[in-house]
Amino acid sequence: MDFHLTNEQLMLRKMYREFAENEVKPLAEELDEEERFPMETVEKMGKLGMMGIYFPKEYGGAGGDVLSYAMAVEELSKVCGTTGVVLSAHTSLCCAPIFEHGTEEQKKKYLPDLCSGRKIGAFGLTEPNAGTDASGQQTTAVLEGDHYVLNGSKCFITNGNVASTFVVFAMTDKSKGNHGISAFIVEKDFPGFSTGKHEKKMGIRGSSTCDLIFEDCIVPKENLLGKEGKGFKIAMQTLDGGRIGIAAQALGLGEGAVNEAVKYTQERVQFGKRLSQFQNTQFQLADMHTRMQAAQYLVYAAACKKQLHEDYSMDASMAKLFAAEAASDVTRRAVQLFGGYGYTREYPVERMMRDAKITEIYEGTSEVQRMVISSRLGVK
Ligand code: CAA
Repeated sequence: MDFHLTNEQLMLRKMYREFAENEVKPLAEELDEEERFPMETVEKMGKLGMMGIYFPKEYGGAGGDVLSYAMAVEELSKVCGTTGVVLSAHTSLCCAPIFEHGTEEQKKKYLPDLCSGRKIGAFGLTEPNAGTDASGQQTTAVLEGDHYVLNGSKCFITNGNVASTFVVFAMTDKSKGNHGISAFIVEKDFPGFSTGKHEKKMGIRGSSTCDLIFEDCIVPKENLLGKEGKGFKIAMQTLDGGRIGIAAQALGLGEGAVNEAVKYTQERVQFGKRLSQFQNTQFQLADMHTRMQAAQYLVYAAACKKQLHEDYSMDASMAKLFAAEAASDVTRRAVQLFGGYGYTREYPVERMMRDAKITEIYEGTSEVQRMVISSRLGVK
């Protein structure tokens, strides 16, 4: 895999990095403290073309590629895990399935508003009784004339309270198991749709996470996404792409913690020496950087394979598994290097450690990634 970045990718990465440093980093502590969604950042990202990086210009996208998108999530997450997941869930879990499975009318109707950031997207798969076992959907969709009627609820939905457009999964035929699941595009103003409980979380506290409620929710027939019964496949394919986004978020969080630790250990003096002069510190930092560099190769490889339309399912799972576990380990080690100060909110490493934990859980736990990888190896 050739990671020789093109001039355009180098230019975009520079722009994302400067945007993250100048516009995102200054808000990160406040978003976390106040559990505040960064709406102003979404507007700015929309103007810069960051809300639809790898979608064609004819649908309002920036016409870029998947690697540039991964680098955007990485750069944002170096300074703010919340902003990283806002972009990732919007792009991978809502814009991508509409682009990849939508009709021409659906793409023209929904993508321009999403790619410009005028509207935010979300994805409703998880239910109270269908988490890792995603095929156990209990939300139902019944066709009545020119519309479907949806009943049920979803939980832990990223961007749930701020999104206008949702890709939602429901059972159209219970007797067919996962082949009875269908996907729908739901607008927040459809009758019978509402959002519920807002979750108070350990990390990524500025991101919105809430329940979605469907009470005789009317969804026009033309909002079926893909064919009836193909919803589970659409969900799995969407999550393959989503896992690249979350892997990039984990990558950024770990790299951000390394940057903070390199800076701090050269400032802090104990026993008359800078912490960076102790061999323990040097070895810790070397290991931390090496883990994140290895994660970067896996994330970039998965992104490049998706761009080339190669089968990248296992690559996305390996990238997410490795990057998430590396980020949790590296952010925890960063807190340790900071000592007591690392445990306080005066420094960002404790926030990074809290933010990193969720990357081992959402869009498929690390155990799910191991299931995907081992099944691809033919292990039964
Ligand atoms: N692409 C296309 N099709 C796929 C696929 C993929 N990546 N993975 C599986 N499929 C297909 C299979 O080919 C199979 O098709 P057939 O029935 O036609 O043979 C079908 O799907 C069922 O496959 P499995 O038997 O492997 O499915 P399973 O029920 O055993 O589940 C699983 C496997 C890996 C555990 C899967 O259910 C899974 O990924 N679970 C985790 C779900 C998840 O990530 N949830 C997070 C939701 S989003 C979120 O976190 C919140 C947010 O807003 C960020």
